[in-house]
Amino acid sequence: MNIAVLSRGEQLYSTQSLLKAGLERNHHMEVLDPSLCTLAIENGKSVLYYGDEIVDDLHAVIPRVGASNTYYGSSLVRHLQACGVFCAVEAEPILQSRNKWTCFQILSKANIPVPQTYLGNAYNFEAVLQHLGKAPVIIKILQGTHGQGVILAETYQSALSTIETLKAAKVRFIIQEFIAESKGCDLRVIVVDGKVVAAMKRQSQEGDFRSNLHRGGTSEVIELTQKEESVALRAAKALRLGVCGVDILQTNNGPVVLEVNSTPGLEGIETTTGIDIAEKIIHFIERNRR
Ligand SMILES: Nc1ncnc2c1ncn2[C@@H]1O[C@H](COP(=O)(O)OP(=O)(O)O)[C@@H](O)[C@H]1O
Ligand SMILES: [Mg+2]
Repeated sequence: MNIAVLSRGEQLYSTQSLLKAGLERNHHMEVLDPSLCTLAIENGKSVLYYGDEIVDDLHAVIPRVGASNTYYGSSLVRHLQACGVFCAVEAEPILQSRNKWTCFQILSKANIPVPQTYLGNAYNFEAVLQHLGKAPVIIKILQGTHGQGVILAETYQSALSTIETLKAAKVRFIIQEFIAESKGCDLRVIVVDGKVVAAMKRQSQEGDFRSNLHRGGTSEVIELTQKEESVALRAAKALRLGVCGVDILQTNNGPVVLEVNSTPGLEGIETTTGIDIAEKIIHFIERNRR
């Protein structure tokens, strides 16, 4: 098969890992840099140019759409779908999972446990904060990633002033209960084709509450409970993602889903668990491309 990794960073670990896994399975692998793509509709048909050349020989793509490129990246994926190319993750699920509020709406509709969360459009923030026990609370911008855009407001006053600042800056956000009992830990579960293929526990660095590896968190292999595994699988299914990273917090009332990532980084999970996730993604494409 001709398989492309949609990525702006050819040298990135995840891109390299996918290229290697595909080559090992005798596929023709290439990197498609979104910034060199031209999306066109000509004579009523979707056409994709790469530089000056029409792309018409691709069988599958593995989108790696970064948070800074969500609109264009998902539009490109939708275009490839229209051109009949199999996409390991599709455009709408990328958009829906990328927006934290939309993601929580879809998860809760599917009866998947999520933290108490409020969209930051409330006219009465004092009442919202009252519902959450005033403080501490978590405030997040809708499209943040790598732990950037997540604030722990430890007092009622800092929560109110943060909310006022975000409103004045016209930044959309959610307000969420702070789950203190997770103690700076979360679980990152990789789901491929309806199966859990790897899981790790991440611990935030001293003094931080965010466990993202990009924020200095550390990771270790973990055996999931049946409930955690089932929550992760249901989250992937609800968001219609054949490949994703599901982040779970362990609470006193069981696991809750914190987010579902359509472009999970492979470096942390592959080096922590020793599992070749890229290979699983290639197998997924082989099984599902018609
Ligand atoms: N409600 C919460 N309670 C406790 N910790 C949280 C909460 N929300 C986020 N965190 C911590 O912050 C990290 C980043 O939050 P997350 O919502 O996953 O945003 P990002 O998309 O930036 O990774 C999580 O991995 C977790 O460690
Ligand atoms: Mg996260």
